[in-house]
Amino acid sequence: MKKIAVFTSGGDAPGMNACIRAVVRTAIFHGIEVYGITYGYDGMINGNIKRMHSHSVSNIIQRGGTILKSARSAEFRTQEGREKAYKQLIALEIDGIVAIGGDGTFTGAKVFFEEFGIPTIGCPGTIDNDIYGTDYTIGFDTAVNTALEAIDKIRDTAAAHDRIFFIEVMGRDSGYIAVECGIGGGAEFVMVPETETDLKKVVKSLKNLRKSKSSSIIVVAEGDEEGNADLIMEKVKVKINDEDKEFKVTTLGHIQRGGNPTARDRVLASRCGMAAVEGLLNGEANCMAGVVNGDVAYTPFADCIGKTKPLKGDHLRLIEILSI
Ligand code: F6P
Repeated sequence: MKKIAVFTSGGDAPGMNACIRAVVRTAIFHGIEVYGITYGYDGMINGNIKRMHSHSVSNIIQRGGTILKSARSAEFRTQEGREKAYKQLIALEIDGIVAIGGDGTFTGAKVFFEEFGIPTIGCPGTIDNDIYGTDYTIGFDTAVNTALEAIDKIRDTAAAHDRIFFIEVMGRDSGYIAVECGIGGGAEFVMVPETETDLKKVVKSLKNLRKSKSSSIIVVAEGDEEGNADLIMEKVKVKINDEDKEFKVTTLGHIQRGGNPTARDRVLASRCGMAAVEGLLNGEANCMAGVVNGDVAYTPFADCIGKTKPLKGDHLRLIEILSI
């Protein structure tokens, strides 16, 4: 292996830059030329590919976003698009790829590898933490801490006015962010896509809680089957039917995707980046470099995208028990 390319794709996540840095510097350490592709698969198709050097990744470890930009490519989902991408890579004699992203990124990488055979290794970059084959994804810890900071602030004002707050966090298909910032923020309830939300139970408990608590925090993952936080708040408000009680909604949105990565995310990103390059050198391909039980592990893309990572059962119990 002499030349590898690295790109970021899908929703950006804090720590992606630290991962790019690790990929570039590990490649250079092993005497491999490294190229950066901008705008993910779209950039691959359009030939937005440039040589990177050690100084190309100076002063980025602490920055959110991604210096390589990101995109969700419709063209790469077509055979013609992937053929164009392959021609661009072959023209530069790229013989290895590191793909930083989530399940959409790995789905594309798997198809591309199976069609054209360029060894590819993924690094798990998404705030959602919904990738099988790694305990945590790059960006998750930062996103949880960002959401937690917001919840702490909302709690102050909720308590001051005796209000019930519904706080919507990201997680289209996954409740990991909601659960962890719910535990950390002392939420009374957490609603997530993985479990059925029992609104009757929520209403009953909120009525009960009013005897001991004047304010409440309910964290809603955006993908909950009962709807978004606005909709859920309206449903609960009607059932509680108490004119003295005030209900508010805050949607945290994309602030969860930005910001300086936490130490944990920087370390995880650096480990995955190094493992991806060294994996390629050791003949690994069509898999993701993650960290399982504290150690680097390579998991086939097929499992990363095909298997679900369930929420930890004790996390959900914790919220129920600690909210009384
Ligand atoms: O997959 C990461 C994620 O942040 C999800 O939690 C969220 O639903 C989605 O991306 C938002 O994507 P976009 O930035 O394209 O609106």
